[in-house]
Amino acid sequence: MKKDFKKNILCIGAGYVGGPTMAVIAHKCPQYKVTLVDVNHERIREWNSDRLPIYEPGLDDVVMAARGKNLFFSTDIENSIREADIIFVSVNTPTKTFGVGAGMAADLQYWEKTARQILECSESPKIIVEKSTLPVRTALAMERILNSDHDSLRFDVLSNPEFLAEGTAVNDLLHPDRVLVGSRLTDSGIAARQQIVDIYANWVPREKILASDVWSSELSKLVANVFLSQRISTINAISAICEKTEADVTRVARAVGMDHRIGAKYLNASIGFGGSCFKKDILNLVYICKNYGLNEVADYLHSVVKMNDYQKERFVENMLQAMFNTLAGKRICIFGFAFKADTGDTRESPAIYIAKRLLEEQADLVVSDPKALRNAKEDLSDEGGHVEFIEDPYQAVSGCHAIAVLTEWDLYKSLDYQKIFQKMIKPAFIFDGRNIIDHQRCFDIGFNIYPIGKPPLTHLG
Ligand code: UDX
Ligand code: UDX
Repeated sequence: MKKDFKKNILCIGAGYVGGPTMAVIAHKCPQYKVTLVDVNHERIREWNSDRLPIYEPGLDDVVMAARGKNLFFSTDIENSIREADIIFVSVNTPTKTFGVGAGMAADLQYWEKTARQILECSESPKIIVEKSTLPVRTALAMERILNSDHDSLRFDVLSNPEFLAEGTAVNDLLHPDRVLVGSRLTDSGIAARQQIVDIYANWVPREKILASDVWSSELSKLVANVFLSQRISTINAISAICEKTEADVTRVARAVGMDHRIGAKYLNASIGFGGSCFKKDILNLVYICKNYGLNEVADYLHSVVKMNDYQKERFVENMLQAMFNTLAGKRICIFGFAFKADTGDTRESPAIYIAKRLLEEQADLVVSDPKALRNAKEDLSDEGGHVEFIEDPYQAVSGCHAIAVLTEWDLYKSLDYQKIFQKMIKPAFIFDGRNIIDHQRCFDIGFNIYPIGKPPLTHLG
């Protein structure tokens, strides 16, 4: 098999990052054999089935086009390592939950285990590529483990961070703003880097492929996430001011974002950012700063996460206050549980925090979402009998006192809110945590509307 392909590429970790990234590489580079392995056998079975383990617009087509030709999903990690010329590592690096750095530092145990396994199984030199987002200087630890056996083979460790966002992963991979490849600035490091550049050059314009040193590359990924999340926390902080001053955050964001130095993106006020990356990566950087004694920098970065927590809590408190200071026994319908639209992923979704807080206030919840109910059920599995899961929004709202819009699915923009109003208990409330529905129209129907960062529209006098 090996001789038919120019090179064998392996990716360890077939998750939200590894899966789509390798599918696009395989699709664009028929000359390479691309294999994905994962310790989770069920996940691999799903990648080989008609129902892929993750939902991403456009992913099915890309996978189906390449699967079985030059894209393979396997559980045979050891042989796959042996065969590979280039190994991307995309195992998860969650926040540590124990010991030193608990709640902040990255848990690198899977990462280290993977490095040791690569060393154990390798019989030829290899290029190892960090795809996962990692603390800066992780490549050094990886190099030390891989080169710990004196007689062993040569391993070059590179950093090639992934900037894709969920929900637009395939498009982001096909048309990236840039591809970043960091290596040691030695002859061998630069030669290895060129091999990774050659892969992307099959479809990414050369001027968008940035070569860098390895530490800058690792750090750039964290910094990109700091900038993006910092914008969201800033606009969310402004939304709180808007609510007190009768200003409208959408108008403020538009006026500010038209300044080309600032730009219009990532200025949507919301219930807060979620997803597996932003919070984890910022806390990671906070932890590193503290280790280097950069306490002021750590505090500054940490405030982005604190503002995000505040925004989630503020949303719940606004609901409580608007609904006459008690939610006990009231039925609340949650529209959207995914951390953003067009994904079934609920990791760090603000909906988890909000749902738990509403349950603490003894509300009864009906959770609705077109793609994320399977994950939502797991996230709320400890919450007992006060939560129902109903996909159809018209059924879900029946007998509810309020709707909380927590994910910006297009679906919620175009529902028949007249029909929904009829099915609800009056006075009926909508708390639009994403500012996506037509507020004036819903107010005219009879709803009391509470957006984010705009004056409420109420019939309550
Ligand atoms: C993960 C990290 O969360 C992110 O920070 C990083 O940038 C890339 O990797 P994601 O792909 O979203 O992102 O994670 P996940 O969907 O959990 O996928 C990781 C996969 O690695 C899982 O399927 C897991 O089973 C697998 N894994 C984990 C291994 O194959 N071996 C291990 O030792 C540990
Ligand atoms: C992010 C980065 O965008 C990506 O480059 C990186 O590789 C991984 O982390 P992701 O978390 O998948 O991607 O999605 P993103 O679209 O960035 O949204 C993150 C969160 O911010 C979501 O909860 C989203 O709803 C929220 N958000 C985004 C806002 O609240 N307002 C905005 O204006 C934009």
